[in-house]
Amino acid sequence: MKLRSSAWFGLVDRDGFIHRSWMKNQGLPDHLFDGRPVIGICNTWSELTPCNAHFRRIADYVKRGVYEAGGFPLEFPVMSLGETLMRPTTMMFRNLVSMDVEESIRANPIDGVVLLAGCDKTTPALLMGAASCDLPSLMISGGPMLNGKFRGENIGSGTHVWKFSEDVRSGAMSMCEFMQAEACMSRSAGHCMTMGTASTMACVVEALGIGMPTNAAIPAVDSRRYALAHMAGRRIVDMVKEDLRMSKILTRKAFENAIRAVGAVGGSTNAVIHLLALARRIGVELTLNDWDTLGRDIPCLVNLMPSGKYLMEDFYYAGGLPAVIRELGDLIHRDALTVNGKTMGENVAEAPCYNRDVIRTPREALKPNSGIAVLKGNLCPNGAVLKPSAASPNLMKHRGRAVVFEDIEDFRARIDDSQLDIDETCVMVLKNCGPRGYPGMPEVGNMPLPPKILKQGVTDMVRISDARMSGTAYGTVVLHVSPEAAAGGVLALVRNGDMIELDVASRRLHLNVADDELGRRRAAWKAPQPVFDRGYYRLYHEHVLQADQGADLDFLAGKSGAPVPRDCH
Ligand code: FES
Repeated sequence: MKLRSSAWFGLVDRDGFIHRSWMKNQGLPDHLFDGRPVIGICNTWSELTPCNAHFRRIADYVKRGVYEAGGFPLEFPVMSLGETLMRPTTMMFRNLVSMDVEESIRANPIDGVVLLAGCDKTTPALLMGAASCDLPSLMISGGPMLNGKFRGENIGSGTHVWKFSEDVRSGAMSMCEFMQAEACMSRSAGHCMTMGTASTMACVVEALGIGMPTNAAIPAVDSRRYALAHMAGRRIVDMVKEDLRMSKILTRKAFENAIRAVGAVGGSTNAVIHLLALARRIGVELTLNDWDTLGRDIPCLVNLMPSGKYLMEDFYYAGGLPAVIRELGDLIHRDALTVNGKTMGENVAEAPCYNRDVIRTPREALKPNSGIAVLKGNLCPNGAVLKPSAASPNLMKHRGRAVVFEDIEDFRARIDDSQLDIDETCVMVLKNCGPRGYPGMPEVGNMPLPPKILKQGVTDMVRISDARMSGTAYGTVVLHVSPEAAAGGVLALVRNGDMIELDVASRRLHLNVADDELGRRRAAWKAPQPVFDRGYYRLYHEHVLQADQGADLDFLAGKSGAPVPRDCH
């Protein structure tokens, strides 16, 4: 089989000299250029992405495996996305990184790719970019941090930040104690160890079959994470020889398995957007409604924060994702192919569970119906999402008076005001935090409650926005309203005092305002101006799709494969 790398390294002429000679300045001997598979190791290592800061070490273990199997590993960097530091949002840059990945792969002498991802957006960005090239590819997740420990208690990334900050606002925790918790929460390499977006996406990687079995849960510092990287390095060389391309693994069945796995682990709503975008890249028909129909009856089997009480370290010791998928039985397409060359059914057939309080059976599920609820109605004609397992049962059917915040600055300026006209039956509405409006759809949908409500002991209210929510957060929070306010969605027309009806069982979200009144408000509405009018901001603003379509750039849908481009000399 002629490999694409031979178009660079296999030439016996001036161009071949150029391609090999400069590479040899790294101490690479002649035999590495003998036509063996060249494996790109796509690395999102960065000290600005603390969740991925240990990736150089993982890459070294991948290289061991690649060499051992007779391949030629070459590590390359792409832009990294650190969730905790980047502004305005990493989500805005997800599509930019996917372009970086796609073009880096296609432009170089690469036959197969190992993708190293961890922090939230790095996973979808790398999958999307690689999918548009469709070479044999395999993803290794960086693994979660060890459990947070504060004063003898387990504390979870994100989840306890939200809890502690509410405690500070209600007076139940001092600022000094709050600061002490910082180092106690993040005490090893790895990504958030709750079932937040990073852990959810790592489960998605495994459930799609594009990662090795057990990939999702092994802690970042556990030696078995490095053994997995070594084995993945060996496997990708065979994948190239078998021509096992991404499109052979990322089938409709794989996406259905991933959606059901997200339900079973009580996963993040962010997976909805990322899987819709990935499906559009690889060419699989997937809609927002699929999330509801496929995930509706899935029981939540994993007792992890934010829906439950344990953390990813416990999840791994209990058996990890293979044990969960085994429990799902016929709800999973067992014949779906995975990167190790076996089917999903073969991979999980003997998967053990060592702790039934962490990984439940469907009969003793943590929550009977997990998955993602997709809402429709005049307030969200193209859809909105809500995570029932993180919501309050008493608010799943609710009618309340809207308290409207025009943007995040308006929210921050007024939420702590004791004069704010709000009570616990109201519905908090936040506008202009969608893909275009913010820009980049930040995780602000789980708006903190007003202090005067918190002091009454109320911990949840219905909240609605076009934003996203951290996978580590919880509450009765309606997210991803589409079309967003900045694109002229009805959300932009909501005013203080309007009545809003939420009925999750009927999947309904309704603004109780007559159509002619909405027409008058629309006539007076003006679209907000973009923050910048040049560079990537402009490209993003002009081309980003709405949340129900995955918020990819419109021109990135589909794949171009990886034909060898013209030479440059
Ligand atoms: Fe990186 Fe949570 S901040 S995974």
